[in-house]
Amino acid sequence: MKFRTRLLISFGVVVLIPLLVFGLGIRWEMARRVTGEDQRRVRALAGVINADIAREDDRIRGRLAALKRALDDDYKFRGVVVRGDDRGYALDYAGNAMRVAGLDFLQIQDDEGRIVSSGHFRNEFDRLGPALPGAGPVLVRAATAEGSFLALVSSDTMSIGVRRFRLLGGVAVDSQFLARLARDPELGVRLSLPNDTSNADSGKIVVGPPTTLPYVDAVDGPGRVEQARIVVTRSSALLTALQRNVNLWFAAAVLIAALAALLLAGWLSTRISEPVEARIGDMERRIAIGDLARQVNHDVKNGLAPLRNVFRHLTQVARDKPAELPQVFTARQGTVESSIDYLETLAANYAKLSPAPERKATDVNAVVRETIGGSTLVKARLGEGLPPVSADALVLRRIIENLVSNAVDSIDGKSGSVTVTTEKGRGLVRIAVSDTGRGMTKAELDKAFDDFYTTKAGGTGLGLSIVRRLVLDSNGSLKVETEPGEGSTFIVEIPAQ
Ligand SMILES: Nc1ncnc2c1ncn2[C@@H]1O[C@H](COP(=O)(O)OP(=O)(O)OP(=O)(O)O)[C@@H](O)[C@H]1O
Ligand SMILES: [Mg+2]
Repeated sequence: MKFRTRLLISFGVVVLIPLLVFGLGIRWEMARRVTGEDQRRVRALAGVINADIAREDDRIRGRLAALKRALDDDYKFRGVVVRGDDRGYALDYAGNAMRVAGLDFLQIQDDEGRIVSSGHFRNEFDRLGPALPGAGPVLVRAATAEGSFLALVSSDTMSIGVRRFRLLGGVAVDSQFLARLARDPELGVRLSLPNDTSNADSGKIVVGPPTTLPYVDAVDGPGRVEQARIVVTRSSALLTALQRNVNLWFAAAVLIAALAALLLAGWLSTRISEPVEARIGDMERRIAIGDLARQVNHDVKNGLAPLRNVFRHLTQVARDKPAELPQVFTARQGTVESSIDYLETLAANYAKLSPAPERKATDVNAVVRETIGGSTLVKARLGEGLPPVSADALVLRRIIENLVSNAVDSIDGKSGSVTVTTEKGRGLVRIAVSDTGRGMTKAELDKAFDDFYTTKAGGTGLGLSIVRRLVLDSNGSLKVETEPGEGSTFIVEIPAQ
């Protein structure tokens, strides 16, 4: 990944993450406020509903008090209930009084709870009326000639003569009544009666808190007291729309901010990366040159080693057996010449700087012979009838030379041997360089091919890494078998031509 891209990504991350956290924080806070505001509205509405019901209760009681006064003065009604004259008057009484008082429900019950007169349902006469807990207000389902209806009922007591009576008055609780309670256009008010199994709240959210009222179902008799709830609801579509709006704005804000951040990051990373990239390029060039210098040093040393050996040998012979000098010189002349050739070609290749290896038919045995020269330490077991390989002779020589010099080093002056074996394989030629030297542990072998890994004073640690690269460049493969204290074998396979 380019430095500039990395810089851009880091800028992006550094800017975007806080932005996202900030954005999410705002969104969370907004949602919290909206919900809080909503709860406050609902609580306020619940308070208003309770106050409305209390006011309604007061109004009904006011009417009942007026009715009580009228009844006190009504001798005819007194005559009916005390002496039982004119039943018809009593039956009609509540109906007329209810209309005058502006009520929807009116009952006069005797001390046993039997209905003496009913305004909303004349036929209720003598039935047992609803038994209300206290003075109300109570929600009552009442029977009429046409069916039944719900009423908010309050009650009062009075005496006529020695008898006690109970007056029950109420107003109808219908959809208009509930709509009046709701007030807030976004909120709805609904009654939830006991054993109400309808799912009237589907598609709505119950936002409560509910207000409860005692409830008596008096359609078939006095009934018993249960609890009804007045529930505040809100259509969920509204809240969903609100949430969608918040999310939309949030996404838009994050997107715009992210875009701005990326543009800024792009501009900044270009400004910063240009000089830094120039410096990195310069550094990389220096490193490459350093590597090349080390490689040249290593290769030249390898080319000089056989020359030094021959020179030492000749010096020794000249000193000890001068008569044999011409003969020994002739014997070692080949080694000197091939080493000089090697160094010359090496120099020529480095002069070209990008040495494209010249692949042509190469005789592996010839290269091995040239490389080990007349060394007494290194034995050659050369296979017969090897096919030529498709490789650069110089490359092959560098490979063998590096492996042989490592093998010789591994013996380190002790008794032991180094053998270079060549043999024919399937479509390839195998070159094995084995020694009876110190061998390597698994850990050592793992590092042996690393650049600059060496265990030798004065070693560069580049030999094996060069070998590996050259083998791969020749389409060959490389294997190592090694045992600490026993020795190692490096096997190179090069495709035959
Ligand atoms: N035949 C071997 N037997 C035992 N150890 C080996 C053998 N060949 C390589 N090694 C280990 O691998 C290390 C790396 O070898 P490499 O050829 O890369 O560098 P070097 O030989 O140390 O240095 P240079 O090649 O510059 O002389 C050696 O130092 C040695 O510890
Ligand atoms: Mg080496």
